[in-house]
Amino acid sequence: MAKSNTQFVCAQCGYTSPKWLGRCPDCGTFNTFAEETVAPEPVKAKARAVLPSRAVPLSQVKYETYERVSSGNPELDVVLGGGIVRGSLVLVGGDPGVGKSTLLTQVAAHLAREHRVLYLSAEESCSQVKLRCERLGLRSDSLLLLNETNLEGAEEAICGAEYVVVDSIQAIYTDALSSSAGSVGQVRECASKLMRIAKSRGITFFIVGHVTKEGTLAGPKVLEHIMDTVLYFEGERTENFKILRAVKNRFGSVQEVGVFEMTGEGIFGLADYSSLFLSDSRGVAAGAVVTPSETGNRCMMVEIQTLMAKTAYGLPRRMSLGVEFNRLVVLVAVLEKRCGLALGGQDIYLNAMGGIRLNEPSADLAVCAALASAERGVPVDRDTAVFGEVGLTGEVRGVSYAEKRVNECVKMGFKRVLLPSKNLRACEKFKGKIELVPVSYVMQMLKALFPPA
Ligand SMILES: Nc1ncnc2c1ncn2[C@@H]1O[C@H](COP(=O)(O)OP(=O)(O)OP(=O)(O)O)[C@@H](O)[C@H]1O
Ligand SMILES: [Mg+2]
Repeated sequence: MAKSNTQFVCAQCGYTSPKWLGRCPDCGTFNTFAEETVAPEPVKAKARAVLPSRAVPLSQVKYETYERVSSGNPELDVVLGGGIVRGSLVLVGGDPGVGKSTLLTQVAAHLAREHRVLYLSAEESCSQVKLRCERLGLRSDSLLLLNETNLEGAEEAICGAEYVVVDSIQAIYTDALSSSAGSVGQVRECASKLMRIAKSRGITFFIVGHVTKEGTLAGPKVLEHIMDTVLYFEGERTENFKILRAVKNRFGSVQEVGVFEMTGEGIFGLADYSSLFLSDSRGVAAGAVVTPSETGNRCMMVEIQTLMAKTAYGLPRRMSLGVEFNRLVVLVAVLEKRCGLALGGQDIYLNAMGGIRLNEPSADLAVCAALASAERGVPVDRDTAVFGEVGLTGEVRGVSYAEKRVNECVKMGFKRVLLPSKNLRACEKFKGKIELVPVSYVMQMLKALFPPA
């Protein structure tokens, strides 16, 4: 690699050093040094040939219209806010094997019918990409493939295209830095370079980004700042359903989510996702409860399943998929302390169906109901849905979008919904269509679901 003028900068305090340091001598933090290129000396104001920039009153600002192009995938278009904006940078992050390359290969092949499209594959060889295209039945002979990890080496090909897919940002490197590909400095430098190309030449970029063990995008946060749109691909690797969520969008709402199905022929948007997250055993087996979950702009009925088994060791096990682990532990404690359930000697396993992640507190009450159902061995009626946030004192708090949630329950044919008392007024218009059971405490919910014989 060519030597260039670089320095190491502490990400916390900005301390610079010519060599990498484990601990910052200035602020004392560990492992915060990242390599950066040294910026050239700023040009003196007098020597500048350009005129000083002038501010414009708001009334005189001209409208800029964004030209949008369809990606060929209606669900993706919705998540992008109505299509791909020319000259924008879109980052697609997700777990390994979730289908990032598959989705972007399909998009690239669709765009290649009318535009010059380059697929810069730094992770896979051209023949691997071709094999995938054949498997997916994509016939776009004009799609350009390039297997290159050096950004400077790929620059010419990039500049000749209208749309570029970079797979992935962690696998490419620039000669400006001597650190290896995937390091914080390299990711940031490569992303800034791509941004400069995108903005100066109007080239649209789709950039694949890997995620860390914690589920955030690998690389510096600044990577997300540089991008116009940041999308996350979620879903368990073994499940066929994936959810694409916008976490940042300069050209649209971040409320949108797309539901996709992974098949042997590729990844496709699902228009009818309503019963994806429900099982047939609902209402028959104990421990399963349905909750209307607000994911992005869509409300989905999701089944929460729990299983309890007598613990074989001194310390009971708790395992949670789809619901945050700490949340489960808190709710178990609330049930034990406020409702007198004996869960101390039980191993508890919890799963949200279909590999969906329930990040909102409105699922709390359904988790409590599922746990109580599993503990008693009594199934919850299959036409009953439950939602509400649970506090540490055992009270049930109101949640947002209550109306929308109840509406979804009605639409899906549920007959009864247990909801926070605070949300009752907003949902009164549904009275003739569904039985509304307001609850203020977890104990009330238990009485409503499991009436004493
Ligand atoms: N022959 C096949 N038939 C059906 N599905 C396949 C086949 N080959 C791969 N897949 C599916 O494609 C998925 C891999 O997709 P893809 O390569 O797009 O993932 P990725 O997100 O790009 O992963 P990585 O981060 O490793 O690059 C696999 O998990 C698998 O489900
Ligand atoms: Mg890939």
